[in-house]
Amino acid sequence: MNKNLTMRQGKILHGGDYNPEQWLDSPDILERDLELFLKAGINTVTMGMFSWAFLEPEEGNYQIDWLIEIVDRMYRNGIYTILGTPSGARPQWLARRYPEVLRMNEQRERNLFGGRQNHCYTSPVYRQKVRGINTLLAKEVGNHPGVLLFHLSNEYGGDCHCPLCQAKFRSWLKERYDTIEELNRRWNTAFWSHTYQSFDQIESPSPRGEMMLHALNLDWKRFVTAQTVDFASQEKKAIRDGGCQKPVTTNFMGDYDGLNYRKFREVIDVVSWDSYPEWHKKPEPRTAVETAFQHDFMRTLLKKPFLLMESSPSSTNWQEVSKLRKPGILHAASLQAVAHGSDSVLYFQLRQSRGASEKFHGAVIDHYGGEDTRVFQEVCQVGETLSSLNELVGTVQKPKAALIYDTENQWALMDAQGPRNAGLPYKETAEKMYTGMRRLGLDVDVIDMEDGLKEYHIVLIPMIYMFRVGIEDKIRDFVKNGGTAIMTFWSGVTDDTDRCYLGGAPGKLTEVFGLRRTEIDGLYDGEENAAVPVRDNPLSLQKSYTCQKLCELVKVTEADVIMAYEKDFYKGLPVLTCNQYGKGKAYYICADMEQQFYNDFLEAVLKDKNIEKPLPFIPDGVEVTTRESNETTYLIIQNFNADPVRLELPIQGYKLVYGVKSSSLGGFGTVILKR
Ligand code: GLA
Ligand code: ZN
Repeated sequence: MNKNLTMRQGKILHGGDYNPEQWLDSPDILERDLELFLKAGINTVTMGMFSWAFLEPEEGNYQIDWLIEIVDRMYRNGIYTILGTPSGARPQWLARRYPEVLRMNEQRERNLFGGRQNHCYTSPVYRQKVRGINTLLAKEVGNHPGVLLFHLSNEYGGDCHCPLCQAKFRSWLKERYDTIEELNRRWNTAFWSHTYQSFDQIESPSPRGEMMLHALNLDWKRFVTAQTVDFASQEKKAIRDGGCQKPVTTNFMGDYDGLNYRKFREVIDVVSWDSYPEWHKKPEPRTAVETAFQHDFMRTLLKKPFLLMESSPSSTNWQEVSKLRKPGILHAASLQAVAHGSDSVLYFQLRQSRGASEKFHGAVIDHYGGEDTRVFQEVCQVGETLSSLNELVGTVQKPKAALIYDTENQWALMDAQGPRNAGLPYKETAEKMYTGMRRLGLDVDVIDMEDGLKEYHIVLIPMIYMFRVGIEDKIRDFVKNGGTAIMTFWSGVTDDTDRCYLGGAPGKLTEVFGLRRTEIDGLYDGEENAAVPVRDNPLSLQKSYTCQKLCELVKVTEADVIMAYEKDFYKGLPVLTCNQYGKGKAYYICADMEQQFYNDFLEAVLKDKNIEKPLPFIPDGVEVTTRESNETTYLIIQNFNADPVRLELPIQGYKLVYGVKSSSLGGFGTVILKR
């Protein structure tokens, strides 16, 4: 984490979104909030994201004293402020006086006032008004010793199809392709007579026009990301121009794929995200591993501690069902964020709002307003635990394995028609590989194709359908120098404007993997095949495993076959292969395999590479993660089962940091050791 932030605080941040502007007419409530915050060990509040109508009730009439007063009161009581810029929701006057700030949808209809992120990121007026308020906040509040960092807007997202955005899109394309001929070539517009004569003819994708030109869709998404990142960078610049140098963050939304979050790395100093798992919908260990994947995605963005910016202390009212968290889950989920590299546990919301859409969203302080509630008591318990873990602040993870999970690839892959229009298993395959590693207690970085591979021993590569520029060379060099690459079916199909490779797939990697894809079979729901081990295979795999959804047929040129299809007309063709290339190994998985396959296969790969697990035996549903500083390694062991499990903890050289050193770990329990 940015040195500033950790050095100033030295504590795990505990607190969350606070909306005092909803209670300015009730000073008694604001008083009571502070009292309760202190009881719950709350040391941080996030404010201001939705305060624009109070900060600038009329154009140019700034009213920020109330905010300064609250920041100050919090600080005097040991509570820090994360200061939001209010650009996520604009005041009425702004939308009425300058209609261009409101978004236009893909039907080219101008939205009415309302909602959040309902504004055009291109509009010069919007940018100017945001700049005005941000500069002032930076100048008047930002340098208050109580302000820890700036929180840009709130959950950037969505797109705008207004004329300003269309013009900007065209100039962005011009910059990218230079000539219209080049764009036509790269977009393959010869298909369906789509040839453009000039950049002016290009329109963003619309159901009233074009939705089937995949390269257009892809570039539109890239443009939307670029424009949003540019907007965020202008927000940051306004803060700097206001004379404040504090770090900035913006809160991401888990697996929201409308934006390529990796592109925000150039703007933000600290990554933060909002985690809302649907606890108790699936078995808890399943929810835990899916959440862990998100945490690791976020941590890897800047490869340093991140902040859990929002989480619900109880139910989440925008989900289909507002499920309460069973006792112990809040504590376990909060520590899980820390285990994966968060230096905070922050909630949405500290006090439940009285009206409108979030009145039934979980909160630390509910409408009843007392401290004798189950949720408040659990929050107090989290606060107490966190205060004993401050030594973890600033420690990092150094995974030996990385998984490539790439947003641009996801856009292209999911937009293509075929080889399975329902349920193309991208995230599922990534999660299966990830789960296989996590079961072995191995930390995993979740990277994209722009990242380097050199620091890893194993790289997991699910379905990289679209090879982005440079990835083939990176994978080839990685394997050549001794790395183990594990790639799956439906990889290396297209280039980065979604044009299929001619002359064999997976592109330049056919040589590295020692095979070439010939066909891919989409399986109907309920249809199955199986992979059976080849006798005396090098990994000593013994069992058969089922596969569903997709079965790829390959022609092996160099690779060894480890498993083969059990039936259908491709019976006997390879399902799992390994090619020795340079000093490393390149494994290829041809079919959508069941989870058990990944568990056993990855365990065998680890053994082959002589990589040790952090604990010799890890029971099902138990997560083991590692955070380290230069001197100390922390081992965090969490049981996501409701029932206790038996454990063999390492005794030698380890000291207890949290929990009980015993041969069993209670349901939803955590133990932390250090060496
Ligand atoms: C998001 C937003 C918050 C709030 C929560 C509710 O994460 O950032 O302002 O609306 O959802 O879960
Ligand atoms: Zn616009």
